[in-house]
Amino acid sequence: MDIPLPWVLSIDSGLRYLPYETGLNQLQGKTMNRVDNKVALVTGGGSGLGEASSIMLAKEGASVVVTDVDGDAARRTEEAILQQGGQAISLEQNVVDEKRWKEVMDLTIDKFGQLDVLVNNAGVSGANTGIFEETTLDQWRMVMQINLDAVFLGTQKAVQVMKDKGGSIINISSIMGIVGGAGAAYNASKGGVRLLTKSVAAYCGLNGYKIRVNSIHPGYIWTPMVRNVLPYVEDLETEEQLKAFLTEKHPIGRLGEPDDIAKGVLFLASDDSCFMTGSELVIDGGYTAV
Ligand SMILES: NC(=O)c1ccc[n+]([C@@H]2O[C@H](COP(=O)([O-])OP(=O)(O)OC[C@H]3O[C@@H](n4cnc5c(N)ncnc54)[C@H](O)[C@@H]3O)[C@@H](O)[C@H]2O)c1
Repeated sequence: MDIPLPWVLSIDSGLRYLPYETGLNQLQGKTMNRVDNKVALVTGGGSGLGEASSIMLAKEGASVVVTDVDGDAARRTEEAILQQGGQAISLEQNVVDEKRWKEVMDLTIDKFGQLDVLVNNAGVSGANTGIFEETTLDQWRMVMQINLDAVFLGTQKAVQVMKDKGGSIINISSIMGIVGGAGAAYNASKGGVRLLTKSVAAYCGLNGYKIRVNSIHPGYIWTPMVRNVLPYVEDLETEEQLKAFLTEKHPIGRLGEPDDIAKGVLFLASDDSCFMTGSELVIDGGYTAV
């Protein structure tokens, strides 16, 4: 066999080869169905990380409810999934609307019968909140509402639905929820998501709910959100300059791709991460390591 296989340690047979790891399956062009029979809801699924996560979850066997405040964008992701033979529906949803959360949960259960995975991904950069001395309370609240309040709403509604059968809640925070540097409102909202996640993870565990709650902390990923920050960065005029400026902050030598984060979402959605809850999965090309 030319292809090197990964080693695994098995209690019954000692050290042996197991042709199971993604390396081999990717070489053979196969998917692993790591989330077969699961139903996943992804907010902000019309673009960037949410789009990539929705498509990857569907490829790996999940039925996906793609929601976005931009209903057309959500529909495009749904169509991409259906074209690849996956299962999906799309719904227009503004994540700050509590009543809509209840409707979205009901529609999910009506269509697919259950909810196993929630990805709280929708968010805004808050780049337009300006310099700190001039940020208004309304601007601050707008960022908090979308990036933090809505994650509370989604997490709460998911816990209500999942508490008997269990599930996995994945909250997309940021490296900017660990270190500063992106504007006070964005940093505070993403830091809030980090601790909301740990708090609810502990609550669920201590109450015997089989619900895992984890956060993901991406470094810079080249999506519309990041591209649209350009007008707010002093001294930079082109996208190429912005890319180079941001790339320098990642020791790995490149910016992230949406799929780099989708792979983390898939891992936390799957049973491969069954002993993880309250964790922060940092996927940042080394940004926070230096
Ligand atoms: N791109 C990065 O570098 C990066 C890094 C760290 C964290 N994140 C986080 O990842 C998440 C996704 O970011 P992205 O880069 O894919 O951005 P994006 O702008 O490409 O996509 C965000 C999506 O969320 C939707 N959205 C915005 N407000 C909404 C609302 N109120 N209700 C429902 N949907 C709404 C948008 O319509 C859009 O489709 C965000 O939470 C962001 O903070 C991104």
